[in-house]
Amino acid sequence: MFNLLLINGPNLNLLGKREPSIYGVQTLESIESELNKKAEKEGVNLATFQSNSEGALVDRIQKAIGQVDAIMINAGAYTHTSVALRDALLGSEIPYVELHLSNTFSRESFRHNSLLADRAVGVISGFGPMSYQLAYNGILAFLKHQK
Ligand code: DQA
Repeated sequence: MFNLLLINGPNLNLLGKREPSIYGVQTLESIESELNKKAEKEGVNLATFQSNSEGALVDRIQKAIGQVDAIMINAGAYTHTSVALRDALLGSEIPYVELHLSNTFSRESFRHNSLLADRAVGVISGFGPMSYQLAYNGILAFLKHQK
C-alpha cells in the first residue's frame, strides 16, 4: 500500500472564497475529501496537511521522512520564494509533485519561477481543482512504475 501526503501552503485554506475567478469555488475541504474517496477505493493511504506558516510546512515534510512514499505539494506563494521548503523536500529524499490550481506561467512574472520545480517528478499547473486529481494520478503511476 502506498502512503501519500498532500501538502497545501499559505492561503489555500481560503479556497472557495479566495479570488474565485482564478482559483474556482471549490473548498480545500471538498478537494481533499474527493481525493480521499478516490484513494480509499484504490487502497492508497492519503494524509493531508495545510499551513500558512513556512516552518510548519518544513516540520511536516521532515515528519514524513521514512513514512511517506511521495508528496503532492501546492506550496502557494512559497513556491516562488522558499529555499527552506526546497531544502526540506530535497533533504527528505521523498519524490514529490508540484501542483497549482492556476497556470502560474500565464500570470505575473514573479510566479514564473519555482524553487521546487526542477527537482520535482513533475509539475501540474492550470487545471483548477482537477490539478489535484492529475497530480495524484501522476505520482501514483510514477510509484507503480518504480516498484
Ligand atoms: C498557487 C499559485 C501561487 O502563485 C499562489 O501564490 C497561490 C496559489 C495556485 O495553486 O495556483 O497561493 O499555488
